[in-house]
Amino acid sequence: MTEPDMSTTAGKIQDLRNRYNEAVVEPEKVAAEKQHAKGKQTARERIEQLMDPGSFVELDEYVRHRTTAFGMDRSRPYGDSVVTGVGRIHGRVVAVYSQDFSTFGGSLGEVAGEKILKVMKFALQNGMPIVGILDSGGARIQEGVLALGKYAEIFRLNTQSSGVIPQISIVMGPAAGGAVYSPALTDFVIMVDKTSQMFVTGPDVIKTVTGEDVGMEELGGAHTHNTRSGVSHYLAADEEDALDYARSLLGYLPDNNMSDAPDYASDFEFETNDLDQKLNAIIPDSPNQPYDINEVIEVIADGGEFLEVQPLFAPNIVVGFARVEGRSVGIIANQPKQMAGTLNIEAGEKAARFMRFCDAFSIPVVTLVDVPGYLPGTDQEWTGVIRRGAKLLYAYAEATVPLVTVILRKAYGGAYIVMGSKQLGADVNLAWPTAEIAVMGGQGAVNILYRGEIKRATEAGEDVAAVRTKLADEYTYNVASPFLAAERGEIDSVIEPAHTRVMIAKALRALRRKRAELPPKKHGNIPL
Ligand code: HXC
Repeated sequence: MTEPDMSTTAGKIQDLRNRYNEAVVEPEKVAAEKQHAKGKQTARERIEQLMDPGSFVELDEYVRHRTTAFGMDRSRPYGDSVVTGVGRIHGRVVAVYSQDFSTFGGSLGEVAGEKILKVMKFALQNGMPIVGILDSGGARIQEGVLALGKYAEIFRLNTQSSGVIPQISIVMGPAAGGAVYSPALTDFVIMVDKTSQMFVTGPDVIKTVTGEDVGMEELGGAHTHNTRSGVSHYLAADEEDALDYARSLLGYLPDNNMSDAPDYASDFEFETNDLDQKLNAIIPDSPNQPYDINEVIEVIADGGEFLEVQPLFAPNIVVGFARVEGRSVGIIANQPKQMAGTLNIEAGEKAARFMRFCDAFSIPVVTLVDVPGYLPGTDQEWTGVIRRGAKLLYAYAEATVPLVTVILRKAYGGAYIVMGSKQLGADVNLAWPTAEIAVMGGQGAVNILYRGEIKRATEAGEDVAAVRTKLADEYTYNVASPFLAAERGEIDSVIEPAHTRVMIAKALRALRRKRAELPPKKHGNIPL
């Protein structure tokens, strides 16, 4: 390469091109070689795939670290270990940072931290979502406290951005040590099967301290965090799947808490159609027989499209995004197919966090109720079902977004209250004629209310099971009937299941200009 003549404009432009080549083009080739050998894409390839083609504008590609310790001054690659910038997703502007494992293992030193902070601040100030793509060995060991300090600043900015702009983390490699807490502070965490791991202390430390033998994948792989810990919201089959999920997710979200979620053109049918009729037959005659709540959601959602969030964690509750009349809604629904749809700690926390996200970003929530109650047991009580279960109550009670609740079948006790009951703050509450709203189920109520009657039947040698069932049916019919709730105005109407889709759409239309205010406060104190 000939040296450019720096006394001329043409020479200066040539110098820029040379430097760009050195900063971006050449390192990208090396990065591709290293990452592809591991079955991974480079930081830039990931961004290209995430963003609309050709829309990405890189920032800070000429940044270099200033560390001299451990001979670091002999290697000062341009851009350091992270690629940052702004591009478009579905035509909307989104900020991104993507850690480059091929440079210092993607580790975060002073200037990599500064780059991330700069793009995060840009996103916050300009009200756009931010996506972080993580692939890093954590704090740069050579930089010590400077690296730790930058993490602290990132966590602080993650927290300040929470509820202002949507934040999505895609973990595409290791996220070790305290570095896991940036994704944890964001709204959604996506992990890639087999190639991403998150842990606070790694297998070696665990072995030394506790003697436990555990592999990296079992400890903190994508499967573990999607099924066991609930840290991750989506288990992607590969990198492409992870990036696709992030794009789809952003399609439901507003740019920030002051803007509306995207409104898609819709040919919503206000007449009941054949698909709606399916709901008239979905509730089995036997109260203990399960059905799949997803079949109900598919009927309600425009085009049957539902983007489930955390599908593998606490599957007894289903949460995710859909559109009704082209507008985003959050759906929270008990899943009778899993643990009979009971609520436990995990389900409560999953739904509470989702609810708070929707409320923060003004996405209306539709709640579908079929819940026999809270899961009983010492395990639940001792691990804090009172304290942790209260989160879901708190989330519904403080929500000011439009809330529409439909009771499909069981709505018992505290679980009735928490799943978007009217007195907790829901705006429109509907029930199917199959709804059973009561302090407890028929069988449980009979054990308490008809103890004498059961004793008498036992002593008289009668068919006790038949007596029990008869009394339970009577209780359900007389006490748990949705018409009793309707008579008191506890629900707004009893509707034919086939009318649900249209009724929800009408309710959401009516609630579009909802105004609601909470008393002034610094912030509430949600039970944690
Ligand atoms: C500096 C690092 C680094 C780090 C990796 N590298 N992690 N450099 N600081 N934290 C470098 C390696 O030296 C190596 O450089 C290159 O990146 C690739 O790393 P490998 O080890 O060869 O890769 P691999 O075998 O895939 O293993 C990846 C890994 C491992 C599992 C992430 O590198 C690792 O255990 N790193 C240390 C993880 C860690 O303990 N980090 C600190 C966590 S505490 P060369 O030059 O050989 O290519 C933390 C605190 C945050 O982050 C606190 C916030 C509050």
